[in-house]
Amino acid sequence: MLQSDPRVKLTVSSTDKPIKHETLLRRVKGVNVLCPLLTDLIDAEVMDAAGPSLKMIANYAVGFDNIDLSAAKERNIIVTNAATPEVSESVAEHTIALMFALAHRLIETDDFTRAGKYHGWGPAMFLGTDLAKKTLGIIGGGAIGMGLARRLRDGFDMTILYSDIKRNEALEKETGAVYASKEDLLKRSDFVSLHVPLTQATRHLISRNELAIMKPTAYLINTARGPVVDEQALIAALKSSQIAGAGLDVFECEPLIACTKKQTEELRKLKNVVLTPHTASATIEARQAMSRVMAENVIAFMNGQQPKNAVTVT
Ligand code: GLV
Repeated sequence: MLQSDPRVKLTVSSTDKPIKHETLLRRVKGVNVLCPLLTDLIDAEVMDAAGPSLKMIANYAVGFDNIDLSAAKERNIIVTNAATPEVSESVAEHTIALMFALAHRLIETDDFTRAGKYHGWGPAMFLGTDLAKKTLGIIGGGAIGMGLARRLRDGFDMTILYSDIKRNEALEKETGAVYASKEDLLKRSDFVSLHVPLTQATRHLISRNELAIMKPTAYLINTARGPVVDEQALIAALKSSQIAGAGLDVFECEPLIACTKKQTEELRKLKNVVLTPHTASATIEARQAMSRVMAENVIAFMNGQQPKNAVTVT
């Protein structure tokens, strides 16, 4: 499965599937740099198996919850991510695609039409809602939030609220976004979109209490990381129509990511959800930019410079 090139001392996995933990433990010994996918769990055990030669982990992902940052810090290993403007654009677009799919009921109506059930037009058939002039609540006012706010303010005249641990003046200035507490944002928004990294502080950031204060007509969009939302609480809220629907690109348990639970089957049975398989950044533009930035980070580090995308423990 793993191919070695002795000239460049580069070992590349020949598949884009996650490498088994045991294989990783065996094969990392003596490497200087590791470039994992978000599905590769890089914990203290892997770092120790690599040994003191391991100096850098350059993640091929914007998120870095697959890496034990504290363990890396203890071992003086620098960690970088692959955040680029192109990924932010792609995730912002995907978020809008999920919003449209929900608001205009695209999946349900496509299923209906394909099934040959369209036998005549009716004014109340599959009523949806418009995005225009609605309120968007962005939780996590970073680059993706900015891309989203810009597009939806300019294109759809939406009112933009955002919440974060600190204010983002550029976001406010460029998009007119208004800083709000999480509670205020949840109460007022027609669409709530999550753009925070997964950390101890953001795990289950949206749970029963948060869903309870959202409008019954509101939609929740998650393109961040599954565990940011308490999925069982979300399923209950969707089943009881406490909120109108959810667009999910990520799940509490995703196949092949180290996970002890089974992927939630209940979600798949719900009509008021649109589900995509963690593909928010799956565009040619984003993937190429991620590869480039990951390589640039490694080259900078090898040349004794500070890589652009160093991530730190908060
Ligand atoms: C995708 O989820 C990423 O973190 O790049």
